[in-house]
Amino acid sequence: MCGIVGYVGADSAKDVIVDGLKCLEYRGYDSAGIALVSKGKILLRKESGELSKLEKKITAKDFDGQIGIGHTRWATHGSPIRENAHPHLSTDGKIAIVHNGIIENFMQLREELEREHGVTFKSETDSEVIAHLIGLSYAENGGDLVLAVREATGKMHGAYAVCVVAADNPDTIVAIRKDAPLIAGTSDTGSFIASDIPALLKWTRDIYLIENDELVVVNKDEVRIYDADNTRVKREQTHIDWDAAAAEKGGYEHFMLKEIYEQPAGIKETLEVRLGKQGDIKLDGIELSKDYLDNISKVYIVACGTASHAGLIGKSLIEKFAKIPCETDLASEFRYRDPFVDEHTLFICVSQSGETSDTLEALREAKRKGAQILSIVNVVGSSVSRESDHVFYTWAGPEIAVASTKAYTTQLMAFYLIALKMGEIRGVIDKDYQKKIIEELRQLPAKVEKVLEGEKLIEEMAKRYYKKENIFFIGRGMDVATAHEASLKLKEISYINSFSIAAGELKHGTIALIRRQTLFFVLASQDALFEKMLSGIEEIKARKAQVVCITKETNVRAEEVADETFLLPDCMDEVAPILAVVPMQILAYHIAKLRKRNIDKPRNLAKSVTVE
Ligand code: M6R
Repeated sequence: MCGIVGYVGADSAKDVIVDGLKCLEYRGYDSAGIALVSKGKILLRKESGELSKLEKKITAKDFDGQIGIGHTRWATHGSPIRENAHPHLSTDGKIAIVHNGIIENFMQLREELEREHGVTFKSETDSEVIAHLIGLSYAENGGDLVLAVREATGKMHGAYAVCVVAADNPDTIVAIRKDAPLIAGTSDTGSFIASDIPALLKWTRDIYLIENDELVVVNKDEVRIYDADNTRVKREQTHIDWDAAAAEKGGYEHFMLKEIYEQPAGIKETLEVRLGKQGDIKLDGIELSKDYLDNISKVYIVACGTASHAGLIGKSLIEKFAKIPCETDLASEFRYRDPFVDEHTLFICVSQSGETSDTLEALREAKRKGAQILSIVNVVGSSVSRESDHVFYTWAGPEIAVASTKAYTTQLMAFYLIALKMGEIRGVIDKDYQKKIIEELRQLPAKVEKVLEGEKLIEEMAKRYYKKENIFFIGRGMDVATAHEASLKLKEISYINSFSIAAGELKHGTIALIRRQTLFFVLASQDALFEKMLSGIEEIKARKAQVVCITKETNVRAEEVADETFLLPDCMDEVAPILAVVPMQILAYHIAKLRKRNIDKPRNLAKSVTVE
């Protein structure tokens, strides 16, 4: 996720800004930049890649000043190249801005700026429009930076934290926020603005939390906050007593837990930016015509680990909504056969990192065989995204814990949107049914929040079961994928042996393993299959095993047959997989914690598997 640091004061601004940005490195970024104000000019340096690369470019004595803004960028609009890095300048070079968030109407603003003001854009980003809008307004309003920022942001839709400096104003940074975090602080040597607390902890622990639509004027000696009506706000400082490491995790004990809690925001973002005002799906970056979709013989989904479980759900969705036969495969297996892939295959790669070697090689093989490649990727500019014909970015933000959580639920959201859109393009999905599903998807962030409210219940459950040495997960239909994902999550971070299987397969062999006290998690989120799952529970209970059932709150009979239940908010079966996986992530987390495991960096595992 992008990071912002701004400083005005007695110290060298570039040193303060680089130090602050370093504290945000853990969040992930792919380019960085700094703008300073010095002698009536804006001095700008930007680099793609690591902050250390930028540091080497700013050693010159003449690149310094006592006011400036800096940014680390996690690419969304536009690849992670130098030109797309922040800060961005207005055409006359007098205004520099950094921005976190997404400007939804940037295309419209960009076209207006080009058409009506002859602006030439230097980057592919949504953010550059902000620099030009502020630049024009600043010139028209006699250098009133506050007014210029207000006017410009008044035209923007979306989420933003924006910080601005002007070449002829060496004393002031103006910042504003809407749905993206912003904080400010002061010390003996100057004042600061930043996107996140860790960036400021070296200088101050007393910070101002900026609220939505508030504008901040940052001078050397003070920080002034104004509400949307430009009335000065009196804000108490908040004292931060976390240490820097905890602050990086936003107060959570582990990145995994933080990322679990980021899921409502992640799935909301993945969904909302693709929905038009009328709830119509817009898959920017993916152009699949009716003619093409009607003429492909199948969709082939390939991925590894957690991403492959998302692929299993994707298969069900594509077959259900788009009525196209769909196959799934593990990327590590795909290459060692001679798979039926040709120009009539749409090949979908799913990868959080976009750098998984097996997935990348499978992609290349499918390309050689003539397939079009659509990838679902989290990291912009990654190898998988670069080598694909169409890319759907999940925009979950950086996932730091090795155990994938928010990447998975946003991959599922990607599949819902892709499958629904494919069905619409082919004219095979009923319009009202599609509308109903979209409405259900819209309600998911709030329902995931509700599931998260049950963390304590799951923690108590974990206390009852963390000493088990074998745990089984079963499900039917789309719950099979959730069972696999729950099992993988548990084994990779707790090191407990766990096994997942389609419920109907138990009786074909695995049932022999059931003994008194064998623990089963039964995923039963599908109403259509609930009766069958109940019979399965009876069979397991008859062998004196223990059963925890994860089902919807409406399925009260589960409480009569299972030893215990975790109840999900009611929803349509189609969207239930996004809800059902969340308690399983939390369970794995708490069991691993009770077993004192290294949760964010489990043994033998790497976040990105770049070897075969
Ligand atoms: O970056 P990718 O999505 O391609 O990674 C695939 C797997 O390596 C990954 O999902 C792995 O299984 C995770 N550790 C699961 O939590």
